[in-house]
This record gives sequence, C-alpha cells and structure tokens, in this order.
Amino acid sequence: MRVLVTPDHRTLSEEAAELIARSIRIRPGLALGLPTGNTPLGMYQELVKKHRNEGLDFSAVRTFNLDEYLGLARTRPQSYHSYMQTRFFDHINIRRENTDIPDGSPGIDVKAECDRYENAIRDAGGIDLLIVGIGTNGHIAFNEPGSSFESRTRVVSLAPGTIASARKYFASEAEVPQSAITIGIRTILEARRILLLASGQTKAKAVERALRDPVSESLPASALQLHSDVIAILDEAARG
Ligand code: GLP
Repeated sequence: MRVLVTPDHRTLSEEAAELIARSIRIRPGLALGLPTGNTPLGMYQELVKKHRNEGLDFSAVRTFNLDEYLGLARTRPQSYHSYMQTRFFDHINIRRENTDIPDGSPGIDVKAECDRYENAIRDAGGIDLLIVGIGTNGHIAFNEPGSSFESRTRVVSLAPGTIASARKYFASEAEVPQSAITIGIRTILEARRILLLASGQTKAKAVERALRDPVSESLPASALQLHSDVIAILDEAARG
C-alpha cells in the first residue's frame, strides 16, 4: 500500500481528483467505484472544476456507487442517489445510463437487485479504480465489522455507531435507515486499483489499525492490505 499524507482536506481532495483525472485521460472509458459521505465532497468539487476548466471528459466513464440506504426513496435528499446527482453528476458530462447505484427504494426485490448489481459490474468488465472512505469503526462502503472477506453485494444491518453518524442528515433518529445495500469486501478487492481516502482526527485510529493491524474480518478496512494496488491518501489529522 502506498500512503500519501497531505496537509489538510483541501489538498487531499486535490490529490485524489488529480489521480482520478489522470486515470480518465489514460482510459476514457474506465469504470469508477464511487463513495459518498463528507470525505469525498471536495474531491467531487475538484473533478467538477477539472471538467469545467480543463475539459475533463466523462462522456465514456462508467460509475458504480458502493452503497445505498435500504428503504429510502431515491428522491429523498439523504439518499445516495440524490447525493451523487446533486454533488457530482449534474455538473459533469456523464451519461446517466453509465451511472449505477444500488436501488434501495422501499418495496424493492433486494435479492434481485443485489444480483443485478454484481452482474452489472461484471458486465462492465469490473471496476478499474474504486475510491473508498472509512468509517470510525473501520467499515468500508457499508461493510461493518464481521463482514466476510468473501462477501458480495448484499443487504446489511448498520452498526449503532454508523446509524449515530448518519443521524445528522435526518430529521430524527427514527428516520435513519437501519440497513443498506452495499457491495461486498470481495467486490471491493476485485477492483483493479483502490484509492482510500481518510480525513480528520476521528478517523486516525481506524486508519492506523487498517494499515498496521493484522488482517481481520473484525476490521473490514484491513482487507485492503490484501490488495496489491492500494493508494491511501490521508490528511495530517487522519494520520494521527
Ligand atoms: C458511510 C458510507 C461510507 C463512508 C462513511 C464515512 O458509512 N456508507 O461509504 O466511507 O460513511 O463517511 P464520512 O466520509 O462522512 O466520514
């Protein structure tokens, strides 16, 4: 694993966007795995800037999001569908049919949706560059501690701490979804290259353990040690 430490969140965002932009210029039709959360917001802003100012072309790029809440309508502002649309897709020239996000809408046939998602990734030739954040308990995408390293896209129950972290985006605790659809650890490890982003002091412990502790299913992010092409971009605070 290569580790790059940047002074702050702004520089982390710039480095991440530059790495992604370079990859798109080399391979305009690449498939990206995309995260949500606070950490990648600056990265998306930088990519939008590169589209506007440098003509970075997304017209052939394919994207697969890592996860989505279950039981939340796609149109709700807290859904990852809304996040991606308003923070990124609305501002670049990506084709809507080239973007995919697990569908966690109420009433969805979850088994069929999880199978569809894995097949869609496979049919696209796999994910070339997957960008992933980290939860304070070491989760990646929504793979909570205890997730099998053989796991693929599936429904998961969110850990109490993950629900507590999401609370700020919802009107009340009762509104926070208790479960989600997430790609699995195996799905993540099958990506050709992985970019791990971590920002802020609250992530320092999880990052240190993910990078240095023995690989264990009790710490999902430690699975990244098993991959041969991972770049971790941390800001000073997340390095601890
Ligand atoms: C959620 C997302 C993860 C993300 C994590 C950290 O759990 N499902 O993909 O990595 O939050 O989010 P943040 O960057 O806001 O700390």
